[in-house]
Amino acid sequence: MSMNLVTLLYLVASVCFIQALKGLSHPTTSIRGNIFGMTGMAIAVLTTIALIHGQARSLNVDFGTGIAYVLAAVVVGGGLGAFMANKVEMTKMPELVAFMHSMIGLAAVFIGVAAVAEPWAFGITAAPVAALIGARTPDGAVILDGFVRYAIPAGNRLELFLGAAIGAITFSGSVIAFGKLSGKYKFRLFQGAPVQFSGQHMLNLVLGLLTVALGLVFVFTESWPAFFAMLALAFVMGVLIIIPIGGADMPVVVSMLNSYSGWAAAGIGFSLNNAMLIVAGSLVGSSGAILSYIMCKAMNRSFFNVILGGFGGEAATTGGAAKEQRPVKTGSADDAAFVLGNAETVVIVPGYGLAVARAQHAVKELAAKLTEKGITVKYAIHPVAGRMPGHMNVLLAEAEVPYDQVFEMEDINGEFGQADVAIILGANDVVNPAAHTKGSPIYGMPILEAYKAKTVIVNKRSMAAGYAGLDNELFYMDKTMMVFGDAKKVVEDMGKAIE
Ligand code: TAP
Repeated sequence: MSMNLVTLLYLVASVCFIQALKGLSHPTTSIRGNIFGMTGMAIAVLTTIALIHGQARSLNVDFGTGIAYVLAAVVVGGGLGAFMANKVEMTKMPELVAFMHSMIGLAAVFIGVAAVAEPWAFGITAAPVAALIGARTPDGAVILDGFVRYAIPAGNRLELFLGAAIGAITFSGSVIAFGKLSGKYKFRLFQGAPVQFSGQHMLNLVLGLLTVALGLVFVFTESWPAFFAMLALAFVMGVLIIIPIGGADMPVVVSMLNSYSGWAAAGIGFSLNNAMLIVAGSLVGSSGAILSYIMCKAMNRSFFNVILGGFGGEAATTGGAAKEQRPVKTGSADDAAFVLGNAETVVIVPGYGLAVARAQHAVKELAAKLTEKGITVKYAIHPVAGRMPGHMNVLLAEAEVPYDQVFEMEDINGEFGQADVAIILGANDVVNPAAHTKGSPIYGMPILEAYKAKTVIVNKRSMAAGYAGLDNELFYMDKTMMVFGDAKKVVEDMGKAIE
């Protein structure tokens, strides 16, 4: 395959990836976006195999064995990925993403090590310096250890250092993020609570400087020991950077690691002179960074505040008990159905609990029954409701909720004041008026102003706190009716009562 054709096909794949990102930004176009992504990836993989075939022929290297390894990796990796993606619950998606980023980071490290060991095999123009014990280098020195040495150009060494270091940080950081998100493991570093000790930031700074110094030693001297020492430090740094961050901030961290994995891939792409890897890596790197920024903004946190850690202890990540024992007004599903049936406008606020209960289909049916009665139903989506970006949109799209009923926070907030009922299903932090109180950990976070509705119905299982571990004043308001129970059961019961 000619290089011009390879470049053209890589360009087509790049356009597909850009279209994929564009499509994935809205539920109505997300399926199209996915199809573009899959098409782009298929073109990229097949073109790369054809490229390797051409290179193997020109180098007179056996292509068959190499491609067997590639196909085996595609079958094993693809099969495992398909199995996990099929099995994973929607609420566990951030963990799956963290796991995948760890694999991308590790792949960048392996490619970096392999490229340093055998640069010619990666298309890096490097001259073999010596092949045998006792052979002489071009400047006359005798090789004593028997390793074949290649002089990798300094520019490539810099790219390999950056790609492998970012890959190593991404790998170990993602493993810790995975453990914190799953909350299943007893190991201290995998607990949701931040792990902090005095001098932590100074230690990270020193280790960071040492990693850069060792990387530069590799760049200037091509020293293998320096390269491996740099990699070891980068692995340790990945762990140290993530452990002080609480489980509550893990989705932001996962998106940040997503960005890192993209930059690692782009760095390696420069070394391997592969335009596809550079473009795809840059798209992942920049979209991950933008997503982290959007998430921080939606929580009114600065990026540095997240990175420096400490937010979201045990109570926050596991839904700790409410701090106060105050009376609240409670009601049954039938009571709530009565209130809903007499309303003209109802705004539904879905949250993480709705996803846990898998109540999206029941909600859609309830909404349909209300609509049949001539009641206007709208859904209000907070940008960080749930545990991952777009969580609620995906959930509602799965239940085929009409898109014209779904409103983003800035579009619906003005309407709560006129709504007869705001019904909050498994949401807590995203409707917590504490966000308006100075000194609250979520002060300044934009919220859905459900408290402005004439009547508020809140469904959750108990008075336990949400992700940020805070009590919610909304639950104690005179106009609020708490309906305790699992969201699916409660919503189904409301539907039956309305019938
Ligand atoms: P949360 O504040 O976590 O509240 C969810 C509520 O659902 C809990 O109070 C829980 O109370 C209830 N619940 C759990 N299981 C339930 C079930 N089966 N049936 C009924 N209710 C159930 O959720 P939210 O309001 O969606 O806010 C999301 C939080 O995650 C925010 O703090 C946000 O900052 C954080 N976060 C999100 C993201 C993204 S991108 N989405 C990123 C970073 C952080 P009970 O235990 O009493 O039932």
